[in-house]
Amino acid sequence: MLINMKGILWMCSTLLLTHALHQAKMETSPPVKGSLSGKVVLPCHLSTLPTLPPNYNTSEFLRIKWSKMEVDKNGKDIKETTVLVAQNGNIKIGQDYKGRVSVPTHPDDVGDASLTMVKLRASDAGVYRCDVMYGIEDTQDTMSLAVDGVVFHYRAATSRYTLNFAAAQQACLDIGAVIASPEQLFAAYEDGFEQCDAGWLSDQTVRYPIRAPREGCYGDMMGKEGVRTYGFRSPQETYDVYCYVDHLDGDVFHITAPSKFTFEEAEAECTSRDARLATVGELQAAWRNGFGQCDYGWLSDASVRHPVTVARAQCGGGLLGVRTLYRFENQTCFPLPDSRFDAYCFKRKCLISLLKIQIKKLQQIYTH
Ligand SMILES: *[C@@H]1O[C@H](CO)[C@@H](O)[C@H](O)[C@H]1NC(C)=O
Ligand SMILES: *[C@@H]1O[C@H](CO)[C@@H](O)[C@H](O)[C@H]1NC(C)=O
Repeated sequence: MLINMKGILWMCSTLLLTHALHQAKMETSPPVKGSLSGKVVLPCHLSTLPTLPPNYNTSEFLRIKWSKMEVDKNGKDIKETTVLVAQNGNIKIGQDYKGRVSVPTHPDDVGDASLTMVKLRASDAGVYRCDVMYGIEDTQDTMSLAVDGVVFHYRAATSRYTLNFAAAQQACLDIGAVIASPEQLFAAYEDGFEQCDAGWLSDQTVRYPIRAPREGCYGDMMGKEGVRTYGFRSPQETYDVYCYVDHLDGDVFHITAPSKFTFEEAEAECTSRDARLATVGELQAAWRNGFGQCDYGWLSDASVRHPVTVARAQCGGGLLGVRTLYRFENQTCFPLPDSRFDAYCFKRKCLISLLKIQIKKLQQIYTH
């Protein structure tokens, strides 16, 4: 046992070292990180401030432009979308960024042209460029933004609309997530999320996001797209729930066998690989990181799902996201535990756990 632990530690430290070396060789600035519906500041500082005569109105000499660099649909040409232009005291803001971006009001005072972005969407992730012209000086910088977080619909194993408010919060915790806030649901809706099922949110309201209005999904917004709301509800009422998961602390991987696995066999198979069945939250977060797989597999809550990253008719019916297999056509009940599917396992990154141990050790050394 001791030797085994030593072996694992050795493997981890080797990984840690190669990881550190790899990082050092890569570009200098890591991506700016934000979370769905949260706020980030993309830094941009004027390298030098030329001294202009004191009676000059500096705002006439300053132009700040922020753009997002995107790859065109054909995947070749890089196109530039204007996020914000500030000049002569005027600010112009791109369509997708209205009400969500700002720069300091007197950037010439502080040499700061950083972009503040709020109500973050998953689709905001990407590469941004700031261009600052001050007098005859021109400063440019590019940086990337990563946005973590997924909102997803969750229905209990038994039937539709069975969760009271307390049970809804617990259901999310049980699958490695938390109940979503209305702001997170709205940000997901802006990214295209759609679900015709009423679910609890963290403020004890019940809502659902609709992009394509249709019979049965009109709610309070007859014919218009948007997030429907039933308003603030009594905690005894029962609905489905919307959960939120921020990021993944390890790896999710798919396993299969010629005759597939029952739920129990799937659990054992993951354990034999030094892992455990993945939670729904972990599969959702892995999907957000680009993990796709066309085969239904068991998860830790005994549900059966698979992640789709590229819309194809033969895989997920042309829909994106984590697809769920229900026992009945009316989208209720998880499959029977002795039915046979692949499985999704989860393994914690030893890198991270090792780092945490090291930090704890250092803290102990310095506090004693
Ligand atoms: C500087 O110019 C801007 C835009 O032309 C104007 O709004 C502002 O009042 C001017 N400030 C001063 C101190 O003259
Ligand atoms: C869904 O279908 C199953 C089987 O036909 C039935 O037992 C169940 O009551 C239905 N549930 C709902 C919510 O309609």
